[in-house]
Amino acid sequence: MRKIKIFDTTLRDGEQSPGATINHREKIIIAKQLEKLGVDIIEAGFPVSSDEDFKAVSEISSIIKKSKIAALARARENDIKVAWKALQSAKKPRIHTFMSTSDIHLKEQFKISRADALKMSVEAVKFASDLCNDIEFSPMDATRSDVPFLLGVIEKTIEAGASTINVADTVGYSQPAEYGVLVKKIREEVPNIEGIAISTHCHNDLGLAVANSLAGVANGASQVECTINGLGERAGNAALEEVAMNLYARKNFFKAETNINLKEIYATSQMVSSLSGISVQRNKAIVGENAFSHESGIHQHGILANSETYEIINPKIIGKKTKLVLGKHSGKHAAKKVLEEMGFILSEGQLAQVTKKIKDLADKQKIVLEEDIVAIAGDVTKELKKEEQRVVLDELFIETGNKTRPKAKIKLVIDGKSVEAVGYGLGPVDAVSNAIKSVIPQQIFLKDYYLKAITGGTDALADVVVKVSNGSGKIYEAEAINEDIVMASAQALIKGINKALAKK
Ligand code: KIV
Ligand code: ZN
Repeated sequence: MRKIKIFDTTLRDGEQSPGATINHREKIIIAKQLEKLGVDIIEAGFPVSSDEDFKAVSEISSIIKKSKIAALARARENDIKVAWKALQSAKKPRIHTFMSTSDIHLKEQFKISRADALKMSVEAVKFASDLCNDIEFSPMDATRSDVPFLLGVIEKTIEAGASTINVADTVGYSQPAEYGVLVKKIREEVPNIEGIAISTHCHNDLGLAVANSLAGVANGASQVECTINGLGERAGNAALEEVAMNLYARKNFFKAETNINLKEIYATSQMVSSLSGISVQRNKAIVGENAFSHESGIHQHGILANSETYEIINPKIIGKKTKLVLGKHSGKHAAKKVLEEMGFILSEGQLAQVTKKIKDLADKQKIVLEEDIVAIAGDVTKELKKEEQRVVLDELFIETGNKTRPKAKIKLVIDGKSVEAVGYGLGPVDAVSNAIKSVIPQQIFLKDYYLKAITGGTDALADVVVKVSNGSGKIYEAEAINEDIVMASAQALIKGINKALAKK
């Protein structure tokens, strides 16, 4: 069996997902969970891009010991220096540098020649390999590059010190057969490729990221770059859980395996979905809620006789279980233990808040499922500090019905002063939104509103994500969980407003 290394880029490419908001604390929580999942390399960020990314890479480097930590850098000395600085406390550091190789990028975006691109790539890899002994080089947009030029760049960057070559399908353009041929060509035609890891990095614009990555593996790639739940730029990257489960379920076909601890797949997916604010599509392969549900009578009959009739994977393998974990009699210690098992390390204050919310929910809903707890913990970790909350909800009253115009009466505390407002709308959520917007100190626009029920049933927790803007062009995202849809909507809107006001 060949060993395929899993390079997770949830915290870098995944974080570039439109709409994803992962704060510093959450990045640390996710990194710890990725290590538990058995990821070989964690790409923790792009240190030169922001202070936040620099801090995330530094802290993750000092905490994570089993997985390698990679930091991204453009093919520029300063980027590489900053990446290396952020990696200082990493036990196993890797510098990942990249440069476009396609003519469209070189001509239209960078306005440089192929010769310039080659020179910059080689110089960057040389500079990086003087600092660090593990260098990955990515020819960006490799799949739309002139193949002889691409092979030349690969040869020269290996000569300069790269030990991993990452074949980037940056715009998700490739077809599996084509991508496989490209990887094979690199393996067979680059003269110094022996002993070098070939990596796949496929985007999902045509829905082929996983298929392309697997075609790469079938043709000799030994590293796959992917993200949890397939997060990433535009349509995302190859989904880690799908890559890992293909290699597991079709081991004999690929004759390859990974170090992924499959039992952690479901919990990791749930955690990333809750912390990033990007929910998993119900019918998504492996981790979607419907992935192991059987609706048709014929299928149910088969499953009862032998689950293998219609299930190629036992959900237990990925750690999918719906169990009752905490109830109203569970204390702070029980909550702490369960949350730590799920990878959440919370402060005392946050833990107290989570415990209270779990108890309140158990009072109303009786059963509190794992999904509820992940959502509550994710919600609490996203809360602004008290002093940053200029608008606080005090009381909310709703009138609605089939013969009544929906009306909301709201009492808010704004900058310490109690304010009341009434709003009407097409429905109760609209009425609340209008009431709130009529009294806040600045005009706020609701750009996006998304509601989902976390668990099934009419008593399910409602998870509301809103995006608001204060007209400056910047979008602020906020999420709230409540057993009442209108309350969740009001809380999410107020959180978003506080973010917009605080930043200003
Ligand atoms: O998609 C891409 O080309 C990238 C590179 C930085 C590897 O993310
Ligand atoms: Zn990418």
